[in-house]
Amino acid sequence: MSYYSSHPTALLRMSPALIKSSCEGPSTLSNARVSHLSSRHVQYVHSKALSSDAVPSGKSAHYEGGRGRNMIDEITERRAKAGKLVAGIAAVSDSDMFKGPQTGKPKAKRWDNHLSQESRERKPCTLKQAAKFLKKPGLISLGGGLPSSQLFPIAELAMKVPKSPNFSEQATIESGQHISIGKYDVRDHDSEYDLSIALNYGQSTGSAQMMRFITEHTELVCRPPYADWRVCQTIGSTGALEQAIRMFCDKDRQDSILTEEFSFSTALETFAPLGINMFGVKIDEQGLIPEAMDELLSNWDVAARGGAGKPHVLYTVPSGQNPTGATQGTERRKAIYQVAQKHDIYIIEDEPYYFLQMQPYTGADQPSAPVPTSVDEFVSSLIPSLVSIDIDGRVMRMDSFSKVLIPGSRMGWVVASEQIIERYQRHAEVASQGPSGLSQVVLWKLLDDTWGHEGYFQWLINLREEYTHKRDKMLAACEEHLPQSLVSWTPPVAGMFMWLTVDHTQHPSGDATDLIKIEEDIFNSCIENGVLVARGSWFLTEKDKALQGLYFRVTFASASGEQMSEAIGRFGEAVKKSFGVN
Ligand SMILES: Cc1ncc(COP(=O)(O)O)c(C=O)c1O
Repeated sequence: MSYYSSHPTALLRMSPALIKSSCEGPSTLSNARVSHLSSRHVQYVHSKALSSDAVPSGKSAHYEGGRGRNMIDEITERRAKAGKLVAGIAAVSDSDMFKGPQTGKPKAKRWDNHLSQESRERKPCTLKQAAKFLKKPGLISLGGGLPSSQLFPIAELAMKVPKSPNFSEQATIESGQHISIGKYDVRDHDSEYDLSIALNYGQSTGSAQMMRFITEHTELVCRPPYADWRVCQTIGSTGALEQAIRMFCDKDRQDSILTEEFSFSTALETFAPLGINMFGVKIDEQGLIPEAMDELLSNWDVAARGGAGKPHVLYTVPSGQNPTGATQGTERRKAIYQVAQKHDIYIIEDEPYYFLQMQPYTGADQPSAPVPTSVDEFVSSLIPSLVSIDIDGRVMRMDSFSKVLIPGSRMGWVVASEQIIERYQRHAEVASQGPSGLSQVVLWKLLDDTWGHEGYFQWLINLREEYTHKRDKMLAACEEHLPQSLVSWTPPVAGMFMWLTVDHTQHPSGDATDLIKIEEDIFNSCIENGVLVARGSWFLTEKDKALQGLYFRVTFASASGEQMSEAIGRFGEAVKKSFGVN
């Protein structure tokens, strides 16, 4: 069940001597000697346990509470009992090795009919599969293409990072902690991960070390209500989405995908060249409207839709949606999930802004509501993810370190059922080969070895405070500079975007049919005035439909309070000019 030195089913053991031998010649995957039990055996032990626990699915959506601090204690105990994690070069790992008991949970449904032909036809990567022969005691591998770590030109990486809970840039400069990662820390310093492992080839699922952290984090926050969930590390959500869409959608089947009527433009640009039909669902201040989704699906007419098949996939951004900044509340998420169950829709939830849920807006010049002080309070304050109510295993949750740590890490992960993760993994084997080892080891050192789960949550609480302040500054700027008879907005509760709605009916041209022209004029004056905003039409899901309103997206993520005030003033001037008001 576990993946630790003290456990009889430890999968891949790497003693100092073996690390040395692994440096002396390439193997198919790793010259680290595989223990007497193969990954297959470990999975067998697990799936047996799961199948005896599992009960048939078919329950309706619900959400189980109980996340937070006491679960961190449970995880700490679990790790202590298991002993040291021993996972060498290209060690195979999966979430089952690190999850707690899943007793009483149903198993996920199967999604064979949803998978594309491309995905169904994927075979395991031959060279990665050859790793199974490495378990033979005494085997000398001449079979693979791994370079020797002796030839890696990096002996040590050093970083200075915040000491929890003093996360500010200034505090880090003044009193941050110095940490370093050496090439042979496992051999020389009793570490669980080092450069000799991380900088070599790995598995497409990512390293066992980060697999453990992310699996535990998923347990702490999401707790999927079915038994056979797993995670797979990704190269960020952009790449993960491209893979996921190719897994589920097939242009030859005339597949269609549903999303919000205004959706993340990069996602739309991913779907379009794959020949996937896209349809937008009406939205309100809480994002996608479930009744509108139900109506659209219930009345689907393939002929009237130009041959486009009834959508079987929903792509949604539930928290701080890009571009509208809307956040689905708990009841809204449950209702969307139920519509998905009714129409057998597979859901891809893209949640890069999940941990940018903010404190409620208290009004201009009012003190902000205090942020949660404990991990428990913080975790319980989060709106449950769709994967947390996913009794069927019909959700793939995409998460990313981009918005909460460093986008340049190009690291994220997906959570889904075992069947779907296995297909995802097969695809990643021949695409990215998983996330960069350099990124993984740096994030592992920070998150797992230095901060731990508790410290990472403290960091996220700190981010919540930062983003609440930023959002409040943007709102104050809007209240001060925008003509509120013309421009309206809803204070966002998550993410980094605000959606400004300009009342086009008051435009002097009286020409609501040419909204694109008015939008373009305002945009061009913004640029002339020295501010860049994003045009609503850039995010329109159905590009052939006329724009029904005038919208602009602004972000409060990076500009300072003064810059925001100046920029919103410039935007306000552009709107007033277009509408001929002072
Ligand atoms: C909704 C959404 N998904 C995904 C991404 C990109 O995430 P990543 O950096 O993990 O590729 C963004 C970034 O703007 C986004 O807004």
